[in-house]
Amino acid sequence: MSKKALITGVTGQDGSYLVELLLKKKYEVHGLVRRTSTFNRGRIEKFLNLKNDKQNKKFILHYGDLVDSGSLTKILSKVKPNEIYHLGAQSHVGTSFEIPEYTLEATGYGTLKLLEAIRNLKIYPKIYQAGSSEMYGNFSANKLNENSSFHPRSPYAAAKVYAHWIAVNYREAYNMFISNGILFNHESPNRGENFVTRKITLGAAMIYLGLRKKLVLGNLEAKRDWGYAKDYVEAMWLMLQQKKPDDFVISTGKSHSVRDFCKIVFGLLNLDYKKFVISDKKYFRPTEVDSLEGDSAKARKLLGWQPKTSLKSLAKIMLKSDIEYIKKLK
Ligand code: NAP
Ligand code: GDD
Repeated sequence: MSKKALITGVTGQDGSYLVELLLKKKYEVHGLVRRTSTFNRGRIEKFLNLKNDKQNKKFILHYGDLVDSGSLTKILSKVKPNEIYHLGAQSHVGTSFEIPEYTLEATGYGTLKLLEAIRNLKIYPKIYQAGSSEMYGNFSANKLNENSSFHPRSPYAAAKVYAHWIAVNYREAYNMFISNGILFNHESPNRGENFVTRKITLGAAMIYLGLRKKLVLGNLEAKRDWGYAKDYVEAMWLMLQQKKPDDFVISTGKSHSVRDFCKIVFGLLNLDYKKFVISDKKYFRPTEVDSLEGDSAKARKLLGWQPKTSLKSLAKIMLKSDIEYIKKLK
């Protein structure tokens, strides 16, 4: 019998790549989706086979919400998954300053609600908890690893620190199999349009096609350790194939500034980014994370995982996809 996986956040960037990976591995995949006024299945539509009017019996969606514990209990008792990938969150750092209470509700408290529902139902799935490098706050002398301390610099990061520690606590208190991934930034053509890499590839593609003159960004000096989402969901899966739960940093180990990324992307189009990119204070955050760089030695050794995609290749993949996307819209 095939294994059953439940994904929260299935409509998001990582959810879409994880569905693809798990379906390839012959899982029966269940996803939790929120009710929204516009249909937001764009990233996962192709796995639903909606066009053929034949529902994919291996990929099933359930309405629920992380702030609604009743819905979580209902879905969990119906599906009884072997593995849970908990990716659902209000994941935008900048926006978390605008909606801090909701961010904590969904990202922090939502994780507790999910764990409590699992515990009360006495089911024993392996659980992946989507932790973030934002929890560290800033990069110091050494690359950040599983032993580095947290200093959250946003309501989002503070909520993720709560989710991380409540997962550790449930693992220790109730012997639950919960692994925290501490993932550094990962991007793709499916990245939300208001995260900086996608904003840059989309903006550059529009400028290239003559549809826009300028691209307005915030802090160009911030540095991030950017990888490819497709590589990173493999690490999530590997964490749940281990005998014991643990925490793992997933990163490339190389960091670049937002300015560097602009240079790469516009360079691919033979354009000089300086002529098009403007930095505006309105996109600066009240507290910024200036620089992040991760050390994923533990994951490389114990999971046999490593990133496969360079930043330049990632930029190429995203840019190509955005040029095609805009041409189709036109
Ligand atoms: P994303 O694209 O923003 O997707 C977030 C997902 O969470 C969406 O499916 C969203 O549903 C869902 N969601 C939000 N609030 C919810 C709620 N109240 N109830 C149920 N679902 C809810 O994020 P991502 O980039 O795929 O990231 C996946 C996870 O990894 C997140 O937890 C994120 O914080 C974490 N993470 C991401 C990165 C990264 O660089 N991408 C790095 C470290 C950690 P809708 O589609 O309905 O909005
Ligand atoms: N979004 C955005 N928009 N960021 C900008 C802009 C802009 O116009 N201009 C500069 N930046 C800077 C931000 O200030 C930040 O320093 C950096 O670009 C990256 O911003 P995001 O792409 O929004 O990502 P993030 O690092 O804040 O958060 C992402 O990665 C985390 C992992 O470290 C999200 O995916 C989080 O959910 C994830 O946990």
